[in-house]
Amino acid sequence: MTLNEKNQNDIIDTELLNELGIEYEFSEQPINRFKKSVSNEDKSDQLTKLRVEIENIDNCELKNSAKNLVFSDGNSSSKIMIVGEGPGQKEDELGKPFVGDAGELLNRMLKAINLDRENVYITNVVNYRPPNNRKPEVSEINRYSEYLRKHISIINPEILVLMGSTAMEALFGNKIRISKERGKWKDVIINDKTFLTMITFHPAYLLRQAEQKKYSWADLKEIRMRIDKIGLGI
Ligand code: URA
Repeated sequence: MTLNEKNQNDIIDTELLNELGIEYEFSEQPINRFKKSVSNEDKSDQLTKLRVEIENIDNCELKNSAKNLVFSDGNSSSKIMIVGEGPGQKEDELGKPFVGDAGELLNRMLKAINLDRENVYITNVVNYRPPNNRKPEVSEINRYSEYLRKHISIINPEILVLMGSTAMEALFGNKIRISKERGKWKDVIINDKTFLTMITFHPAYLLRQAEQKKYSWADLKEIRMRIDKIGLGI
């Protein structure tokens, strides 16, 4: 029975439960009514299902020209999730995100705020390499953003870091500019859950525009401060 079915709810504040995102089971039986958070086993099943869903995508130029699906890397239990744009040549060859030059810079950026790549979870907006490393088209971003949203829901991070304009557009649309939006905490709501989000520059952009690194550094420090403030213990 769902929370909207209010018949037996004189003792329960359903609005409050909905607001807190608590799943509550109605039953006459003496049971533990508060559902447990998703176990790691459920998570890995859900990730496998999502991967298969992406593998089965139809009529996709990206999939048709790529060698491999590039799904994710890192720790799926992490409270930090990083989203890039899409695989490049090396990522396509190895089936792993951020393993080329941009990946090396990403690793150093994480290290600078005492984070190990193994302790975060990394994915991209599109999971197949765009031909000639072109930016994904709006229609492709929109199509893959559905998978990205599911991916975020499954990982359930405390902090979501969107690297670059493609990741920003996938969740916030293309009416905003990264130069204005980076460095601010924003909320993104997915499946009724609010995720704390930071938009920042993409490492590949920083490799081309080194003078922008000072802004990235400010964003990284802000992320570290928030990790400590929430007490994530990483
Ligand atoms: N750039 C990205 O956005 N993602 C990768 O995986 C590699 C480079």
